[in-house]
Amino acid sequence: MSGLFITIEGIEGCGKSTQIRLLKSHLESRGRVVEVTREPGGTPIAEAIRAILLDPANSALSPTTELLLYEAARAQHVDERIRPALEAGNVVLCDRYADSTTAYQGAARGLPAASVDALHTIATRGTWPRLTIVIDVPVEVGLRRAGHRGASDRIELEPVEFHERVRAEFLQLAEREPDRVKVVNGVESENAVAEVINCLVDAVLEEPNSKRTYVLGSRRRRKTPRGARNGQGGQLRERDRRRL
Ligand SMILES: Nc1ncnc2c1ncn2[C@@H]1O[C@H](COP(=O)(O)OP(=O)(O)OP(=O)(O)O)[C@@H](O)[C@H]1O
Ligand SMILES: [Mg+2]
Repeated sequence: MSGLFITIEGIEGCGKSTQIRLLKSHLESRGRVVEVTREPGGTPIAEAIRAILLDPANSALSPTTELLLYEAARAQHVDERIRPALEAGNVVLCDRYADSTTAYQGAARGLPAASVDALHTIATRGTWPRLTIVIDVPVEVGLRRAGHRGASDRIELEPVEFHERVRAEFLQLAEREPDRVKVVNGVESENAVAEVINCLVDAVLEEPNSKRTYVLGSRRRRKTPRGARNGQGGQLRERDRRRL
């Protein structure tokens, strides 16, 4: 049985953590071993980077530094946790991944999309999810839900327009990559949202394993000459991404 990489995306407070918990039970009831993780974070080093990124005291963090720290945390997470879990045949459920960087640092902060994509290539080494669920809610709904949880982190403190740009980019990602990225209406009840997500995941589980071979970097790496650096083995060309 091959591993399956699923990411859950959406603005703050849209219900990602709630749905990951429900989806984990659903997958376990289907006999799958599930590893839940999150970004930024998921390993001790990446969690240390997360603390820098989310600390409201770090208001001086420049957009470029922010981008590089997110990608640095991702590189560690991919190597130390995501790829080993996928290679072991597990389902990896990741709370945010590279699409969040595209939406927050690219679309919302205005860093060039080409630079963001280039860094994704380095950090992910071609490890892309087979399925990305975007839980879509209006910004005021998300921020209200997140607000009930207590103190806001550095990103939650951004103005409403910033979160609007993030939301719009997630919706555009689904238009650009409709096979991989699915939008679910997060305003419905927790159980109603979970039901839609379960259907989307079940459809992927029923695909032949070959279609779920998402770790393009590992396939490519075998062709990389001995001595070549790992990061160069995972180059993800546009043609490959479309195939996902
Ligand atoms: N469908 C829903 N309807 C109503 N409330 C919900 C729904 N889903 C989640 N909530 C509530 O909204 C709050 C935020 O949910 P959750 O923590 O799952 O969001 P999140 O996307 O993980 O947030 P963050 O981006 O801040 O991590 C929680 O109190 C949760 O119980
Ligand atoms: Mg959460």
